[in-house]
Amino acid sequence: MWKGRFQKATAALLTQYGESISFDWRLYKHDIAGSLAHAAALERAGIISGDELGQITEGLKSIERDIDAGDFEFKIELEDIHMNIESALTERIGAAGARLHTARSRNDQVALDVRLYCRQAVGDLLTKLRTMQSALIACGKRHQDAVIPGYTHLQRGQPVLFAHHLLAYVEMFGRDAGRLTDSLERINVMPLGSGALAGSTVPLDRDFVAEQLGFPAITHNSMDAVSDRDFVAELLFDLALIGAHLSRLSEDVVLWASAEFGFVTLSDAHTTGSSLMPQKKNPDIAELTRGKTGRLYGNLVSLLTTLKGLPMTYNRDLQEDKEPLFDSVDTVGIALDIFAEMVGEMTVETAVTRAACSDPMLFATDIADYLVKRGVPFRDAHEIVGRLTAHATTTGTPFPEIPLATYAEFSPVFDESVLALFDIETALAARTAVGAPSPANVAAELDRWSAKLA
Ligand code: ARG
Repeated sequence: MWKGRFQKATAALLTQYGESISFDWRLYKHDIAGSLAHAAALERAGIISGDELGQITEGLKSIERDIDAGDFEFKIELEDIHMNIESALTERIGAAGARLHTARSRNDQVALDVRLYCRQAVGDLLTKLRTMQSALIACGKRHQDAVIPGYTHLQRGQPVLFAHHLLAYVEMFGRDAGRLTDSLERINVMPLGSGALAGSTVPLDRDFVAEQLGFPAITHNSMDAVSDRDFVAELLFDLALIGAHLSRLSEDVVLWASAEFGFVTLSDAHTTGSSLMPQKKNPDIAELTRGKTGRLYGNLVSLLTTLKGLPMTYNRDLQEDKEPLFDSVDTVGIALDIFAEMVGEMTVETAVTRAACSDPMLFATDIADYLVKRGVPFRDAHEIVGRLTAHATTTGTPFPEIPLATYAEFSPVFDESVLALFDIETALAARTAVGAPSPANVAAELDRWSAKLA
């Protein structure tokens, strides 16, 4: 493509070192869509004839069909997807193909392709997030009466509904979807017409190109347009955070599936055995997802590091944007798919989770609230119940079995109504504030999300 200036052929090692076709071939549909729109703009500007536009269009479509069918030979000597397609086009249609690259550089071309890729990826990921949320909602509905201890510091705190725990993740994935949707505003900006860095003297109608490709906006600085990868960094962050959310859920699933908790049973289809220990049934999906989250963070840091020292404008370093991007999109995509499947077939062992809630210590906060409602300042109530807890622990007497006379020694405010506190259903039903886990609230939240996701 640049043979005019050079006397020596490219070193074999540089061909190998510099090629990106082994990964950027994935951009072929976006590259062809961009070329079709660019060719139409060239025709409008009088650079190519209607006949040439026809030949270019036919040529590009035949290349796309061949790549779709696996009948296209990518050549590493042609470095990247842009030159592979352009060279094949010229081979197929001759002179008209050689006019296509007028007023265009691979710098604005690759910026366009990556934006188109990101736009499509965001659309796909939004669908996958919705499927994942729906699987969590369905699991919550299947086990609508299941209670589970809520934890802080991995110490049992207060009972909640299992569905309330799952709905916490539905909220996280909802924010993730919101972030992805917001990112489209910055992804959806059309850079073609920026040339290598300073636009072109050819009068291209950039708005016309944008319109054909479905972009609501065009870039306003040619130098920024060819070197901006903010939108990629932003997407990598969004994906890293989805990874963080999936990884937290993974950790819950790993704990729940252990013999120590025994809260859930995973389907055989979503677990693996051991080559040595015949009894094992391992939650590999959760472990792999927790592990792959490290890669997602790495991909974000990798791109941020690539960007930090770059002088204006395009630098070849930017070719390093694609592998982390593709990897994060692929990794999060399959993780969401497989998690939705796993959650879809996960069974909650409701007798076990209920037994775990039978520890009367889980009602300590409710006893303090009981005192507060009878006029005791919360700090005093906290201390009274703290001493009561110490008494229960040292004497081995659970709260419901402590005699009323003993309660009265801790505070004169206690009467027999305190014994009504030690019932999970009563405790849950009393938690009626918006966002709190009363069964009525949780049912309403499951319905609200179902309607939102439908
Ligand atoms: N393969 C290159 C990339 O991914 C395309 C742009 C090449 N531009 C250049 N001036 N060498 O960034």
